[in-house]
Amino acid sequence: GAPAPVSATGRGPQDGAAARSQDGAYLTNAQGTRLPDSDHSLKAGPRGPVLLQDHHLREKITHFDHERIPERVVHARGAAAHGVFESYGAGAGISRAAFLAAGARTPVFVRFSTVLGSRGSADTVRDTRGFATKFYTDEGVFDLVGNNIPVFFIQDAIKFPDVVHAAKPHPDREIPQAQSAHDTFWDFVSLHTEATHHTLWNMSDRGIPRSYRMMEGFGIHTFRLVAADGSTCLVKWHWKPKLGVHSLTWDEAQQLGGLDPDFHRRDLADAIEAGAFPQWELGVQVMPDTPEQTFEGIDLLDPTKIVPEELAPVRPLGLMTLNANPTNFFAETEQVAFHPGHLVPGIDITDDPLLSGRLFSYLDTQITRLGGPNFAQIPVNRTHAPVNDMLRDGFHQDAVHPGVAPYKPNSLDGGCPFFAGAEEHAFVEHPLPVAESKKVRESPASFADHFSQPRQFWLSMTPVEQEHIIAAYTFELGKCREPAVRERTLLALARIDARLCAQVADGLGLPAPEGETVEVDPSPALSQLGARWPVAGR
Ligand code: HEM
Repeated sequence: GAPAPVSATGRGPQDGAAARSQDGAYLTNAQGTRLPDSDHSLKAGPRGPVLLQDHHLREKITHFDHERIPERVVHARGAAAHGVFESYGAGAGISRAAFLAAGARTPVFVRFSTVLGSRGSADTVRDTRGFATKFYTDEGVFDLVGNNIPVFFIQDAIKFPDVVHAAKPHPDREIPQAQSAHDTFWDFVSLHTEATHHTLWNMSDRGIPRSYRMMEGFGIHTFRLVAADGSTCLVKWHWKPKLGVHSLTWDEAQQLGGLDPDFHRRDLADAIEAGAFPQWELGVQVMPDTPEQTFEGIDLLDPTKIVPEELAPVRPLGLMTLNANPTNFFAETEQVAFHPGHLVPGIDITDDPLLSGRLFSYLDTQITRLGGPNFAQIPVNRTHAPVNDMLRDGFHQDAVHPGVAPYKPNSLDGGCPFFAGAEEHAFVEHPLPVAESKKVRESPASFADHFSQPRQFWLSMTPVEQEHIIAAYTFELGKCREPAVRERTLLALARIDARLCAQVADGLGLPAPEGETVEVDPSPALSQLGARWPVAGR
């Protein structure tokens, strides 16, 4: 049967002093004092001036004046749902994470999002979609903060502010709000050709999903799993939707943007309300943890590369069912704080330089967005594991900590010294040796091939899908005003495929760049694949 919905607290129905019942017999102010009336200001006579001593008026308006918090710097627009993850147990041999043990049931909260639009933007724009999952495990919170596209624009987080500045609306007129007519976006991706692969996925039908319920999700980076016996493997996370992968057509996407800008959030909420609970299977591609951290010639630390599923099939680990809508959008969907560094024992990171920057960025931004360092106490962010930290005070501190010695070990408050055997259940970083090397600001040579996987993706498409890609590039570049940017993008397309380049150039009324088609050496693995690799639901 369906699991009981989890409330905003993540701990069952709200109760006690924290409850904010809205169905009481009488209205009160924030201090609980009864109010006779909330519609009339206190005045010196019915037609006289409003009095400064009206503290109810001041409380009501002051609170309203401070209702807004900053929207997320990216992924500002989203929709979310509660659910449960049920483990098949197939991951138990490769990770000691308790929520992957056979039969384990773990509450989850998932937020889907667009990346670039503001909080009030339309759902059906051409964009990457966020797919972030919070697992409230018995061992602490694990966040899988992924996207619906398996690769990313850049290989090093130091470029993230740049790619986002380029893709957000131009700073002068704050248009365009969508990808089209975007000189800066096309300028960036044609100058930083590692963005070619992600951009090609965006221009494919994957950039305009039919529904959040019909999207794959990817962890993108390679992660390291650690088993109970200490053995490790490298994995890439995948979510596969039970409903299959489906997209809108470009015409549908554009019309919906006007007719129903809430199309995706409405679809998700309506389906859950009707009991048509969406489901995804969580799986991993498993690669050996070798000192090189490569697999079949693919650098596993390069987030612009996939590992084809022919080479490493996705092994299913469990099933996620989303079965309850949030009660309050602000409390839950808006205030949820995901972080790729929220890890549990048995799941560790790798040295992917994009991931390293993310590990810094999320906590940092949330301190601003959620008003200080105590947002882990917001109900939707609370772990279901017991908390015994030495973090103290700060804005929005809810806890009343007992004792006089907020440090460990101490000899005053008693209890909970560091005890022998604590590591057994603790998150311990895998002791990977660090290569002896010089400090440098440079990419490895293995990050240099920006075109063989885009070419492989292009070749894996059906003729209709290829037509859609050509139409998408032609539309987007047709809105781009700077000739040099269009020409540089055509050069990148020529390096993917001569016909793709020629047809987009033709659509733009431009000559296709001559002699620029570079036949890149596919990596040994990719050359063995033939033209297609399977993608779930196709
Ligand atoms: C937010 C995914 C790269 C910084 C998000 C969200 C997702 C996501 C899904 C929305 C979370 C939510 O629903 O609340 C990804 C993926 C990446 C990536 C899959 C690459 C593989 C980066 C990088 C940085 C970054 C490189 C910075 C160096 C942020 C920030 C937010 C965010 C600041 C807003 C977080 C908040 O306000 O709570 N990202 N991201 N992301 N991301 Fe990323």
